[in-house]
Amino acid sequence: MDIFSIEGPTRLAGKVKVNGSKNSSLPIMAAALLAPGKTVLKGVPRLSDIAVLENLLSTLGPKVERLENGDIIIDATVVDNPVGEYDIVRKMRASVCILGPLLARCGRVEVSMPGGCAIGDRPVDIHLRGLAELGAKISLKNGNIVATAPQGGLVGKDIFLGGPFGATVLGTDNVMMAAVLAKGTTVIEMAACEPEVADLANFLNAMGAKIRGIGSPRLTIEGVKQLHGIEYTVISDRIEAGTFMVGAAITGGEVELDNCALGDMMAVVDRLRNCGVCVENNNGGCIVTRTGEIKAADITTQPYPGFPTDLQAQFMAMLALAEGNSIITEKIFPDRFMHVAELNRMAANLRKEGASVVVAGVKKLIAAPIMASDLRASAALVLAALAAEGTTVINRVYHIDRGYEKIEEKLNAIGAKIMRQAI
Ligand code: EPZ
Repeated sequence: MDIFSIEGPTRLAGKVKVNGSKNSSLPIMAAALLAPGKTVLKGVPRLSDIAVLENLLSTLGPKVERLENGDIIIDATVVDNPVGEYDIVRKMRASVCILGPLLARCGRVEVSMPGGCAIGDRPVDIHLRGLAELGAKISLKNGNIVATAPQGGLVGKDIFLGGPFGATVLGTDNVMMAAVLAKGTTVIEMAACEPEVADLANFLNAMGAKIRGIGSPRLTIEGVKQLHGIEYTVISDRIEAGTFMVGAAITGGEVELDNCALGDMMAVVDRLRNCGVCVENNNGGCIVTRTGEIKAADITTQPYPGFPTDLQAQFMAMLALAEGNSIITEKIFPDRFMHVAELNRMAANLRKEGASVVVAGVKKLIAAPIMASDLRASAALVLAALAAEGTTVINRVYHIDRGYEKIEEKLNAIGAKIMRQAI
């Protein structure tokens, strides 16, 4: 198990290249199952979550290979074992995104019901409701979801996919991937509009699917007979980009981000500017600078284009050092506050009130031994440690490796002092 020792305070200054999006890559890798042929994916980051899905896909029949240059080749000519094994699926909830493609390609799928995780319950009831609307028979057998398509295949339908927290990202992905090979037309109302969902839809259309309304809450999908393998480059990771933007802000630094789509980050840029952080467009990327004090700001997480829940923890770390009080409200995962207790160990002044946290800004954070718990909370702790006085030790760094490729190398290259140690 690795730990990070992080010396602070440091100031980040320099240029960093944003990787391809983890949350685009995962459903797109699953969607490659839909085409009997070879798909080449470019720009996919080297992350443990990606490796888990590579392994899972290879147990379903396809040949999966990662080249030296980082490209992933998925040859899905053969998909003859539509069963997602528990001991692989339990490692990563997003494995559930094989449901839709396997149901569409093989007419049957069995995948372990994903468990909860540190950010809360992760139900898939809306996924299953959407697939059932397309004609699938759904049952639960010893913790496994078993879905079978009717004899003649899935049939398109108008489907409302909204839930108590709004749209569902992977739920939209699963139903869309099932619908592309269904007979007739499917309309998904209250589809998720995240850029990663749009990226998946663009990938599917490049494979021969017929999806309209991409990026809007209403997707219209005309079923086709077959799809073909393609070469495709995934979009950049707006959550990694946002994490580095907060890094510049929390350390009073100046960071140039390369390969970052500011157009997909308007809610994030709005909050940064509200906090007194300067964000400038810079050919295909941006420059983020903070010179004055961090100003307090209120943040509420919402489905895209609202403020992304995946940057809530990172912004909390920054607002812990703001002048004045901020209120952060989590409308997507109301329990996504594992980072609060750890930040308070660093002398932050955070008080949880239901699905909100009152952040009373303090003058400084103090280094302490802390525990990573989930991917984005762990990234927030790294950011806090960069600004804290002293050497912070973060345990269970594997959480960070799930979603950030060599984060310590990238941060050290622009002024951080992070040492990774195996214990
Ligand atoms: C995706 O998870 C992302 N993961 C998450 O990022 C992200 O936090 C989340 O979307 C929200 O943006 C990937 O893309 C791999 P949801 P997903 O279904 O699709 C409820 C990260 O850090 N819901 O959009 O699983 C659910 O409980 C990860 O990279 C139901 O009630 O999230 C939540 O409250 C963490 N029933 C809300 O909807 C369902 O059937 C949104 O969840 C499905 C979801």
